[in-house]
Amino acid sequence: MSRSGRPTELPLPPLYAMTHGGIESIAADEITRDLGGEVKKTSRGLVVFRVEELSDNVLSLRTTEDVFLLAWGSDSLTYKAEDLDTIRTWTARKPDWDHLFKLHHKLRPKTKGRPTYHIVCQMQGEHGFRRADAREAFIEGLAGKIPHGWQYHNENAWLEIWLTINSKTAVCGVRLSDRTMRHRTYKLDHIAASLRPTVAAAMVRLAGIGPGMTVLDPMCGAGTILAEALDIAEKRSRAGRVRVIGGDIDANAVFVASQNLEHVGKADLARWDSTRLPLERASVDRIVSNPPFGKQLSSIDQIGPLYESAAEEWDRVLKPGGRAVLLAMEQEALKRAVQVRGWSMSRQLRVRLLGQPCVMSVWQKPG
Ligand SMILES: C[S@@+](CC[C@H](N)C(=O)[O-])C[C@H]1O[C@@H](n2cnc3c(N)ncnc32)[C@H](O)[C@@H]1O
Repeated sequence: MSRSGRPTELPLPPLYAMTHGGIESIAADEITRDLGGEVKKTSRGLVVFRVEELSDNVLSLRTTEDVFLLAWGSDSLTYKAEDLDTIRTWTARKPDWDHLFKLHHKLRPKTKGRPTYHIVCQMQGEHGFRRADAREAFIEGLAGKIPHGWQYHNENAWLEIWLTINSKTAVCGVRLSDRTMRHRTYKLDHIAASLRPTVAAAMVRLAGIGPGMTVLDPMCGAGTILAEALDIAEKRSRAGRVRVIGGDIDANAVFVASQNLEHVGKADLARWDSTRLPLERASVDRIVSNPPFGKQLSSIDQIGPLYESAAEEWDRVLKPGGRAVLLAMEQEALKRAVQVRGWSMSRQLRVRLLGQPCVMSVWQKPG
């Protein structure tokens, strides 16, 4: 109790966000700058942070796959069976589950009917125990913590308690986000090799889109990058409208992109060949794109020539001093194609897409 006689509020526990592996530094930047959070720690695919007040602003992060209230975390799993004791005891003793559940309900008010819950245990890396053993230890640790009357549901449960083990790191918490954080609501249609929205959002952040700029995705596929660019444009365009332009050689992709963007915002879309763009010289401030991967083409030998003629055209339409953010599997071929134009790389991030290593790189055209 405080001196006034009112119950003292319990401190807010840290939160953690899971990200697509490789973009955690961009998510940390979004959490710091857009959310005003304080980042405590990042590791591959994970950002631990604090916020002063819990509000549903945490649910509007664009570069994170999921956000949780932290129950407990460890950086020192041993890979041995004794980790199971740690999981059991820490789950049972460390968190104030009741407090965590109340905080969860603040963002996710109870719906009608019996409350439902779900338990998730994920494990990556070689351990001296199976995921099923970790799950069992986790469930034992949770014994007596779930309020009576809550019903276990495998799908669409109202509250989810997660344990995620990645090599020697484990994090356990209550999920605040739902599937719309990672899948968005705009992605009604897909094409093969369509980007994850959180990865597209990371590329768009790296592009540094400002008021009045023109942003181009010359190989837009289902329009994921365009949708994320429109979202940022909406937030940052008060001082001047951002123009978003996209196109693809495949008519179906252009149709899918138009469907996906219908409720997001206005982009100029066209069917075109990125090696012959119907755009003026030096008319674009930012290019953000992931050109086709070698395995999408009939022969891997086609990738170098395609990148070279596309890069020549991108160089023509990009303004001097403009920036490009590109994501490619065949990074060396891409590098050769743009370095010849005098572009210099300021940053690169390693990510995996479709199970393959890829590079997200940021390029500057000389001013
Ligand atoms: C990796 S996908 C892009 C995926 C997209 N970022 C998304 O999220 O859906 C590459 C796209 O490049 C398009 N493409 C291939 N060659 C092209 C060319 N010469 N001009 C324009 N688009 C091309 C393909 O049709 C494909 O949609």
